[in-house]
Amino acid sequence: MIEKLNKIKEEALDEITKCMDEASINNARSKYLGKKSEFTQVMSEMGSLSNDEKKEVGKVSNEVREAINNALDNKLKEIKLEELNKRLEKDKIDITLPSNKRVPGTKHPLTIVREEIEDLFISMGYDVVDGPEVDSDENCFEKLNLPRSHPARDAQDSFYITDDMLLRPHTSSMQVRYMTSMEEKHPFKMICPGKTYRRDDDDATHSHEFSQVEGLVVGENISLSDLKGTLETLARRLFGRDREIRFRASYFPFTEPSYEVDVSCFNCGQKGCGICKGTGWIEILGCGMVHPNVLENCGFDHTKYQGFAFGVGIERVASLKYGVTNMRDYFTNDYRFLHNFNRKEM
Ligand code: DAH
Repeated sequence: MIEKLNKIKEEALDEITKCMDEASINNARSKYLGKKSEFTQVMSEMGSLSNDEKKEVGKVSNEVREAINNALDNKLKEIKLEELNKRLEKDKIDITLPSNKRVPGTKHPLTIVREEIEDLFISMGYDVVDGPEVDSDENCFEKLNLPRSHPARDAQDSFYITDDMLLRPHTSSMQVRYMTSMEEKHPFKMICPGKTYRRDDDDATHSHEFSQVEGLVVGENISLSDLKGTLETLARRLFGRDREIRFRASYFPFTEPSYEVDVSCFNCGQKGCGICKGTGWIEILGCGMVHPNVLENCGFDHTKYQGFAFGVGIERVASLKYGVTNMRDYFTNDYRFLHNFNRKEM
């Protein structure tokens, strides 16, 4: 009997290795272990054996059954894995097909400079505010100490929508908006970046549309040295750590005293070059101490509060930083120009 069982096992294992699919595994299972199998037949004959023989045959039959079952299970697993692999192979998507090339856009140089200025002032605790490009005569001129007949208006002529509304000629209108909109007057620091417009003929250095950042600080005991320190920080952030600034007396109706600020030339180390026109200094902005009339016009007690203000042209800063010689490049959106400001990915 033991011999028979071993023979069954041998035959079964041999056949199982040849099985190719699940059906043939099922067939083999019933052929070698099923009710009508030779194995079951041998088992049914065990009744006629002695106890000792039963023990021995029983042990072998268990081993044989287990060996056949294991072989069937393992082969079935193997078959299923193979089927899965075949299916995956068939369903494979070719992801190596090259896609359409998309060139990522780039920040506009004016945006780069504006954000750099914003970041600096945010780090010094300033509010960054936004305001309308169309504003009233009152905000653009009147409350800034520039009444209707004032000759300084000529330099800032703009485009009028009505007699009282115009495209703002400078961001200084935001000084008025900011201060008049405060219900309770208290010290503050703000900058306002934005677009501005003038009745200028467009050429390499003029444009009817440009942009500025206005700065305004109002508080108690604000002095010229606060303004100087602030602008020195700005100049060094924009043009390099070793920059010096100098104040030149100037005139703006909304500040008293008023200054134009020059920065030491970053190109030639003040030896004199084309950029600084041989002077070693480059003009970058206008500024001053807020005129008492402006403070009063906007509801601030000028005996208690002082302030400083400045206005810087973003195109001017960008042109100096990046060596742009034609202002129109900022507005024509020529890819060959903008492409220079790409951040390259490596
Ligand atoms: N608004 C002036 C301009 O457009 C620039 C300016 C000068 C702004 C002095 C200021 C200032 O706030 O204090 O030319």
